[in-house]
Order: sequence, then C-alpha cells, then structure tokens
Amino acid sequence: MAAKWLKDTVFYEIYPQSFKDTNGDGIGDFNGIIEKLDYIKGLGCNALWINPCYDSPFKDAGYDVRDYKKVAPRYGTNEDLFRLFEEAHKRGIRVLLDLVPGHTSEEHAWFRESQKAERNEYSDRYIWTDFCFQGAPGFPYVGGESERSGCYVLNFFKCQPALNYGFYRVTEPWQKSFRSPAAMATREAIKDIMRFWLSHGCDGFRVDMAASLVKNDDDRKTGTSTVWRDIRRMLDLEFPDAAIVAEWSNPPLALRAGYDMDFCLNEPGGCYSTLMRDYANYGGFINSNRNAEDHSYFKKDAGGDINRFLDEYLSWYEDTRDLGYISMLTCNHDTLRPSYNLAPRELKLAYAFLFTLPGVPFLYYGDEIGMKYLDVPTKEGGYFRTGSRTPMQWDDSANHGFSAAQASDLYLPVDLSPDAPTVASQEADPDSLLHTVRALLALRHSEEDLQADAVLQVICSEKDRPLVYRRGSLLCVVNPSGRSLETALPADVCGKLKGEVIFSIGEVTVENGRICAGAQGFAVMR
Ligand code: NOJ
Repeated sequence: MAAKWLKDTVFYEIYPQSFKDTNGDGIGDFNGIIEKLDYIKGLGCNALWINPCYDSPFKDAGYDVRDYKKVAPRYGTNEDLFRLFEEAHKRGIRVLLDLVPGHTSEEHAWFRESQKAERNEYSDRYIWTDFCFQGAPGFPYVGGESERSGCYVLNFFKCQPALNYGFYRVTEPWQKSFRSPAAMATREAIKDIMRFWLSHGCDGFRVDMAASLVKNDDDRKTGTSTVWRDIRRMLDLEFPDAAIVAEWSNPPLALRAGYDMDFCLNEPGGCYSTLMRDYANYGGFINSNRNAEDHSYFKKDAGGDINRFLDEYLSWYEDTRDLGYISMLTCNHDTLRPSYNLAPRELKLAYAFLFTLPGVPFLYYGDEIGMKYLDVPTKEGGYFRTGSRTPMQWDDSANHGFSAAQASDLYLPVDLSPDAPTVASQEADPDSLLHTVRALLALRHSEEDLQADAVLQVICSEKDRPLVYRRGSLLCVVNPSGRSLETALPADVCGKLKGEVIFSIGEVTVENGRICAGAQGFAVMR
C-alpha cells in the first residue's frame, strides 16, 4: 500500500544546479530552493524530487556519489538542507531526495578501500573478479587501475563502479550470491543511508536505476525485488510515512517490490514517448532519432494513435491499482524537454491529459513555462541531456533572475533568445502555459475524482474521434487534432452527465448525447 499522502500529491522535480542561485557563484543552491518554495506551492505542487545533491566529483551530475551523508558544498551545508525540509514542511510540501543505490563514484571511500590489495571491510562492497586478467563476461568492467589483482564491474559510466548486491544466478567463482554476507552488508549500508536522511526530515526517495541491484537476475528481477521488499519492510517499521518512487518503468514489478510509485518513462517506443515524442524510427535512444518523423499523440495532425499508449498503460494500471501508483511526467533531466517538439497549445493538452490521469504526476522545473531544450555543450556527463538542464528562467533581469554571477560563470548558459519564456512574462499573460498548469493543478486538488485513486475508465479511443475517459464521476475529453471531432456517448455515461464544463481549453460541448470537441480542445465535465 502506498503512503496515504500521495493521494493528492503533485511533484516538482528540481535539478539543483540550475534552479536558483542565492550566493552569486553561478550555480543553484538550497537557499535558492527555499526562496522559491512559495512559487512551487502557488503552482500547485506539494512535493519535490531533488536530483542528487551529495558530495561528488560530478562526472555524472552527482549520480556519482562520493559521500552519501554529506551534501555538496556548492549547494550549501547539511544544515541548509535540513532547513529546506523544515521550510517545505511548513508549507505542506514533502521532499524526496535522490537515492543512488546501484553504484558510487570511483572516489567514494568505500571504493578506495576496496581497491586495496590487502583485504578489508570493503573488499566485497563492489563486484570484483579474482584476477587482474579475469574480466567479467557480460558486464562492463575495468581492469588495471587498482593495486588489487582483479577487475571491477561498472553500473553506468566508467566513474560508477557497481555496488555488490550479489548475483541471483552465480556462474563464476568470483560472484557472490545475493544472500551472501557481502551482499547483505551492502543492503544494510543503503538502509543506513536512508535512515540518515529520513531521520533528518526527508520524506522519501526517488531511486536511481532501481532494477540494477542484483546481477544475473531473472526476467522478473527476483533478486532485486527481494532486496527492495526487505528495504520496504524496514521503511514500514521505522518510517511508515516515507515514499519511494522507482526509476524502473515496470510498475507491475516495481510496485510488487514495495515501491509506492514507478515512473512511466520507457523511451524509446514505450508508453511515455507515444504521448510526447513518438518517432517513426525507434532505432536508437532519444538523441539519435530526435529529428525523425514525430507521431506523438499530442502533436497536431501527426496521426498519433492514443491506443499505442493506452494498451500498455491500461494493462499496467489494471494490474497495479491496489498496489501503488504509476507516475507520469512532463519529462526529466535525462530526456528532451516536451517543448522540443510540442508547441504551446500542444503542451497545454498534453499536460491536461497527464494531470488528469490516476497516479502521482511529476512536473520537471521549467516545463510549466515551456522552457526550451538548448543546444549547449555537454556538462558533467550530461551529453545530449545537458540541453534540458539549463537555468530556470524567472524574469527578464540579468541571467533571467537565476543568478547574479557573470554570464560566463554560470553553471550553464541561460536561454538568451528573444522569445525565451520566463515566469514573470507568463504571470502577466492570462493565456500562458503557466496559468494553464496552475489552473489544472488547482482543479486536480479540488476534485477528488481527478486525484491518484479515482477510477479511470476509457470510454472512446477510436481513431478520428475525441478521446473520452471517465475519472470517477467526471468526464474528460481530449482532441489534439486540428479539426472538430465528435462521438456519441454510451447511454449509461450520458445519463449520469449534467453537462457542466468545469475546465476547458478550446471548445467542447455535449448535445443530445453527442460530444463535440473543437480543434485542439480539452474539457473536464460533470
Ligand atoms: C539515471 C539517472 O536519471 C541519470 O541521470 C544517471 O546518469 C544514471 N541513472 C546513472 O546514475
């Protein structure tokens, strides 16, 4: 069962480097986040996910943790982060930190110890083969860098050695079972880190590469799921209010493994991309095919088919309804921003859909104003992802109000194009995306039937008809195409409908049992 507070929660993801700098060093900080809590609250978000903010050499933007219990000085001190928890809580905002359990930085003290020739407490904290010329078949590994005669397995980039949670199927003498003392010690070390932050006021974690822990695991990730269920039991006993969201993109597995939420972000070709960025050719990852023909559902007249999304989403939804939540997101720090291929009106419709689905939605900082994906050189291992990580655009002052530093000293350049959206300019424009996001989130908070738990039932998803779905007693209608679309409502649905539109974009009407949705229209009605 998921934490109760998630029922009416909308998350705001903050990439701390780029949100708000208060000390003029060109990089965002905790005090900057504190300064903007009222803005976040006013937007309608009542929870945060903050990307890794721990001490790190930043070869992967902080996903290479050097010390799990100490924040990176560039963001402030541990005390500043504790104060952020407090200030957020005062405003009814919960805070999830980013937990990176699968690997550390190669500069982590545990790894330094495990590289030593002489055996010590950390020798088995990472996955090592037992000879300097013995590679790890089937895994990326590094040899020749340590005093120890062995090669170590990587979990992601070269700077990220894999922590040892053991192997589900042990096929080599150097592999430990996932129940071995060494694997159990790693598990306990991660619990200890979770306890540390939870006992200082954090409300839970977004969990990086949640499926990556136990190696040689079977398709159902039996070993990894066992680890998470064990961790869940610890949470249930010691921090029953804590919530965890998986980066797994397999809700049936993740939620059964004890997660409260799992992201729906299985690019390319999966459920998320069919909505937001549905390229004809899924050959590569998002950056290699980003200029391909786009058939995403919200792209006007691109011929997208919502059933490609619904088939996967609904099967997950039915399977996990009593277990926890699917989390839809506008995008995240690893993807192109949705404004890359969707125009402002298309974004309004896409967000209207995302925020009226069940589960717990996530909004990435800056997506509320349609910040652009910028073509900038790679930073901190970001590569193509860097373009979605540029500074938040607050207003028209220097550096868009992000920082008082010289432009050349900023973490990343700000968007200097004349039409760069800012919070200030969109505040002043009643028709802006910002106002739509605010109105949508206010609606979601005011109608229990739009929140995490109310039942979703799809009424019409036929091609050339509007998409019609029920959330509890409310009816939602979407037409992303450039022409009016109509459909007849089934008698039982029609009978219960008062026809009162409580939110709309464009024109949507019901008459004599027929719904007519104008071009690029959306409505919620009772
Ligand atoms: C997923 C994170 O979202 C991404 O930014 C990071 O590079 C990898 N995991 C490795 O930790």
